[in-house]
Amino acid sequence: MPTTVSAPSIATPPYDSVARMLHWLMACLILAVFLLGLLVDTFPKTWEHGIVETHKVLGVGILLLVAVRFAWRLVHRPPASEHVSPLLDRAAWLGHYGLYALMLAVPVIGLVYTALRGQGIDFGLFSIPPIMERNRELGRTVREVHELAAFALIGLASIHALLALWHHFIRKDTTLLRMLPVKR
Ligand code: HEM
Ligand code: HEM
Repeated sequence: MPTTVSAPSIATPPYDSVARMLHWLMACLILAVFLLGLLVDTFPKTWEHGIVETHKVLGVGILLLVAVRFAWRLVHRPPASEHVSPLLDRAAWLGHYGLYALMLAVPVIGLVYTALRGQGIDFGLFSIPPIMERNRELGRTVREVHELAAFALIGLASIHALLALWHHFIRKDTTLLRMLPVKR
């Protein structure tokens, strides 16, 4: 007689509230900064300066938050995973580190690109002046690298989000709930 395999009922502890708050804050910021960068040309010309400066300031915010988040992670270890298989656990670990690497790399490349454009950053209350003369040729290449890295970040984050939904709706385990502010 074939037996029906029931959904896994494994449950591991949730992420702590700071890790959850930082995760969702950064996910929203990254999406907003990505869309601002991509769609800047679709807004009226007079908005361009404001949009690019907002993009840069929020991008620097993401960079600072990655540092806070990673430092927090070192002190507060994330809970053990739901253990799908050793190979997939390894893939998830690699994916998370890939996301951290890209969350760091994209804003750093953005800063390099800004410097190569001969621009500073206007934070409203204070500003950082340009640190070098404009270098058009290198600037063009670095802009492309910034864009490519940003697409890689959004691509990997989309796969990551789909896998979280797979855990929740198909595998029916607590992976997604551990990252949400709900009682399990
Ligand atoms: C996670 C953070 C970031 C993401 C996802 C992101 C994404 C993007 C994207 C998709 C573009 C459009 C690329 C193109 O059309 O060639 C762009 C442009 C740009 N980014 Fe970023 N970026 C981030 C952080 C930063 C930071 C920290 C800076 C500098 C402080 C920066 C500076 C710029 C500049 C100057 C542009 C060109 C805007 C224009 O004049 O069209 N970015 N970014
Ligand atoms: C830009 C978007 C996102 C980025 C950069 C991102 C990044 C990350 C990173 C780096 C981790 C590992 C946390 C750690 O252990 O330190 C993580 C965990 C997690 N994320 Fe995201 N995330 C994003 C969006 C999403 C979305 C949209 C969802 C849900 C649909 C999601 C669901 C989760 C879940 C459930 C975990 C815990 C996974 C586990 O315990 O194995 N994330 N995320």
